[in-house]
Amino acid sequence: MVACTVFASLFAGAVIVSAGSSTYDPIPGNCDVSHVHPFIPPNQNNVSAPSGEHPFTIAFGVGVQNYTCTDAGAYSSVGALAELSDITCLHGSPLFDAITSIVFNFWNASSSITTADVVEAFAPQYPHLGQHYFATNPFTGTGLNPVFDFRATSRIGDPNAFTLMNKTGDIPAPTGTQDVDWLELTSIQGSLAKHVLRLDTRFGQPPKTCTPGSPLLSVKYTAQYWFYN
Ligand SMILES: *[C@@H]1O[C@H](CO)[C@@H](O)[C@H](O)[C@H]1NC(C)=O
Ligand SMILES: *[C@@H]1O[C@H](CO)[C@@H](O)[C@H](O)[C@H]1NC(C)=O
Ligand SMILES: *[C@@H]1O[C@H](CO)[C@@H](O)[C@H](O)[C@H]1NC(C)=O
Ligand SMILES: *[C@@H]1O[C@H](CO)[C@@H](O)[C@H](O)[C@H]1NC(C)=O
Repeated sequence: MVACTVFASLFAGAVIVSAGSSTYDPIPGNCDVSHVHPFIPPNQNNVSAPSGEHPFTIAFGVGVQNYTCTDAGAYSSVGALAELSDITCLHGSPLFDAITSIVFNFWNASSSITTADVVEAFAPQYPHLGQHYFATNPFTGTGLNPVFDFRATSRIGDPNAFTLMNKTGDIPAPTGTQDVDWLELTSIQGSLAKHVLRLDTRFGQPPKTCTPGSPLLSVKYTAQYWFYN
């Protein structure tokens, strides 16, 4: 109930922001993003749209980036946990560039709001796709790799609807040091996507320093995830 009220006011704000230009309408057939290109900072080769592939789904991710405190007193990334919702049909709308901020503000408005609350609040417009989490690398048996998994949510019954990935590119977020890096990820297992780009991130960075022995820190974030095949 609290969540619904917060959502209603944030979403009302978003609609006001977009008033005057075309407001989002989920027009059937307007959801083909195979020929659209995300904004990626120029003059760098670390993160790029994979050549010869096309985006087929764009998601917002809402969740946490996790960190442990090293003996040197700095936070070190140990993966993430997020829910993924479908914003493919939003591409081309003025809301598309604002959606990660809108979702972040909703997610961060109260410590009692869960990612399930966020997913439920946005699901009428943006259907729940699946989960993003980390799993032990099945080839080496060591290290954690990012996974995108639709098997329990939007692709029940399809055993291949996941991808376990290697990070193949990394740049600082052009939006500022408070936001986690933009990434290029390449599939090494599963057939959900050949590549995933993490773009348009909002927050998720840890404090600069920490006290060795501090517990795991989970920092809230949102991002766009672009799925390519
Ligand atoms: C991240 O932290 C959350 C708790 O905030 C936990 O549920 C999740 O399993 C953690 N994931 C990783 C990869 O550390
Ligand atoms: C998120 O919420 C916390 C707790 O209210 C607040 O301190 C912090 O400034 C918020 N972060 C952003 C980016 O709004
Ligand atoms: C690209 O990656 C390399 C190696 O990780 C790094 O040194 C460089 O700063 C990165 N470039 C940009 C623009 O982030
Ligand atoms: C994934 O990345 C690791 C570390 O960079 C590398 O050793 C490994 O060969 C990569 N795996 C594949 C299948 O490309």
